[in-house]
Amino acid sequence: MVVKVSDIDWNSLGFDYMQLPYRYLAYYRNGKWEEGKLTEDPNLHMNEGSPILHYGQGAFEGMKAYRTKDGSIQLFRPDRNAKRLQDSADRVLMPEYPIEDFINAAKQLVKANADYVPPYGTGGTLYIRPLLIGVGPNIGVKPADEYIFTMFCMPVGPYFKGGLTPTNFIVMDYDRAAHKGTGQSKVGGNYAASLKAGKYAHEHGYSDAVYLDPVEHKRIEEIGSANFFGITKGGKKFLTPKSPSILPSITKYSLLYLAKERLGLETEETEIFIDDLDMFSEAGACGTAAVIAPIGGLEYEGNLHVFYSETEVGPVTKRLYDELTGIQFGDVEAPEGWIVKV
Ligand code: PLP
Ligand code: COI
Repeated sequence: MVVKVSDIDWNSLGFDYMQLPYRYLAYYRNGKWEEGKLTEDPNLHMNEGSPILHYGQGAFEGMKAYRTKDGSIQLFRPDRNAKRLQDSADRVLMPEYPIEDFINAAKQLVKANADYVPPYGTGGTLYIRPLLIGVGPNIGVKPADEYIFTMFCMPVGPYFKGGLTPTNFIVMDYDRAAHKGTGQSKVGGNYAASLKAGKYAHEHGYSDAVYLDPVEHKRIEEIGSANFFGITKGGKKFLTPKSPSILPSITKYSLLYLAKERLGLETEETEIFIDDLDMFSEAGACGTAAVIAPIGGLEYEGNLHVFYSETEVGPVTKRLYDELTGIQFGDVEAPEGWIVKV
C-alpha cells in the first residue's frame, strides 16, 4: 500500500522500505533499451528462469535527493552512480544503461514523488535505489537476453542508529568479496555474503561488521554497507583503504577531495593494518546511506579499540560531516558538477 505523506513523521525516519506512488521502469529487449516510464506497480514481473534469481546477474545503486532551504530538490553526483552502475553491469555482462537516461530517470522519479522528499532541517532525505537485473527464460549459467532497469525511492533517516553519535563496529572472520571477484561492483552477491556477519554484529550491539582483506586478513577493507576512513593522530591526515575488493564509494572520493581542498588535510588511499589502529585519533564509516558515521570503538579478536570517544564525534569527522552535508543540502558551495537540480 502506498504510504500517505500525512502519516510520515519526518523527524523519526529510519532506513525502511516504504511504497511510494511512482517508480521508473525500462526494458531491454531485442538488443536495445526501450523508452522507460513511471509506473505505479511496485512488483516486478519476470520469468522463473531469470538469471537474477538463480545466478545473481544484477546490480544496484544507492543515491539521495535532498531538500534545500529554499524548498527546491537536488541530487548529489548522480553521474557517479550512473557510471558505477555501468561498471557493475560490465562485470556481470549486462548492457550499460546510458548515463543521461539514468539522470533523467532520477529527475522524473523524484519530481513524481516530490511530496515525499523530507523537509529541509529534518535531516531526512529521499533515498533512491536504481536496480538493473537480467530476466527472461533461462536455465544455463549465461547472461540474460532481456533486462529490467528500475528506480524506486523512499524517505529515509540515518542508516546507523547513532547518526552523528559514535557507535561500535566489529571485525568479523568472514570475507565479503575476493580480490579478483566482484567486491568493486555493487552486486547482490556481496551483500548476501555479508548477511551472516551483519546479523551477528547487529545482535551483539554493533552497528555493522568490518571486513579484513581476503588474502591475509591483516588490512581493513570496508564495512558491510560503507567504506572506512581514519584521521591520524594530530588531525593532519585522512586515510582510507586501498583494495581491489571494496566498493569505490562516491562519498569516500568526495571526502578525499573535501579533506584536501577544503580542510587542508593530507589524504591517501593506502593499506590500513588492523594492528595499526593506534595511529588514528578518529575513524568513521562513509557512504550514501551511512553519510558519515563516527566509529566509537572497533572490536577485534575480543578487544575494543576506542578511537576518539564512544559518545562524542571527533572534531575532524564533524568538520567533514558539516562540509559534505552542507553541500548536499545546498548550504555550502559545491565543487563544479556535484549538484544536479531536479
Ligand atoms: N561500501 C559498501 C559495501 C556499500 O554498500 C556502500 C554503499 O553504497 C558504500 C561502500 C558507500 O558507497 P557510496 O558512498 O557510493 O554510497
Ligand atoms: C548505500 O549507501 O546506498 C547502500 O547501498 C548501502 C546499502 C547496503 C543500504
